[in-house]
Amino acid sequence: MNRFDDLGQWQAHRRALRTGELGFVPTMGALHAGHRSLVEASVNGNERTVVSLFVNPTQFDQRADLDAYPADLDGDLDKLRAWGVDDVLVPDYGALYPDGYRYRVAESGLSSRLCGAHRPGHFDGVLSVVMKLFNLVRPARAYFGEKDWQQLALVRGMVEAFFMPVDIVGCPTVREGDGLALSSRNQRLSPAERAMAPGFHRALVQQASADDAAQALQAAGFDVDYVEDIDGRRLGAVRLGSTRLIDNIALES
Ligand code: PAF
Repeated sequence: MNRFDDLGQWQAHRRALRTGELGFVPTMGALHAGHRSLVEASVNGNERTVVSLFVNPTQFDQRADLDAYPADLDGDLDKLRAWGVDDVLVPDYGALYPDGYRYRVAESGLSSRLCGAHRPGHFDGVLSVVMKLFNLVRPARAYFGEKDWQQLALVRGMVEAFFMPVDIVGCPTVREGDGLALSSRNQRLSPAERAMAPGFHRALVQQASADDAAQALQAAGFDVDYVEDIDGRRLGAVRLGSTRLIDNIALES
């Protein structure tokens, strides 16, 4: 596996690659089995797989959340090697944002609802870094988890709006045995919060309406950002202490 901290060296390497069948998995590190499923899909569907490890500051609306984001670079590199990744990009902020974030991608509809309503600027940061990474990697396909449903929808929308030559592949949410969706943030839950956390998915699945789910979650001690039914899916975000969890399920039609 080749590691590139220097984007100039990566770009020279990329120019020398003749394959058009390059799969790309953008990540913020702290890798878990959810990321493994994205990497597996890419390794199985492409000649080469590239992964980026970059905790993107522009998508954090709160400094404390950025500072507390879990990091394990050596562990991540070991996992990516074992999962069959060919190239890993580990850029720093200055390399990815030579403009200091003067230029950014903004969407004026969906990005200000749901998670966007509670995390101002979050999706501008996500879309901007994803566009930068797509321009650097030039993948045929890029892999995103369905857990971040709104992110997936916005990335698809950006690719369509800007005629970007990449297929966006959505991969099913990977869950613990008790239903909790895998997330790097789960490591921040205290034992008591971890015991409560599966109640989030349960409420989304079991309650008849989004309002009922929000009320059940509040009654169970979750701080509810939102639960909404949209386009045949139920999406929600809750806080347990200082940890924010998101999830979504398909609604039975
Ligand atoms: O889903 C994530 O981990 C991030 O939002 C992404 C897509 C890597 C952009 O920083």
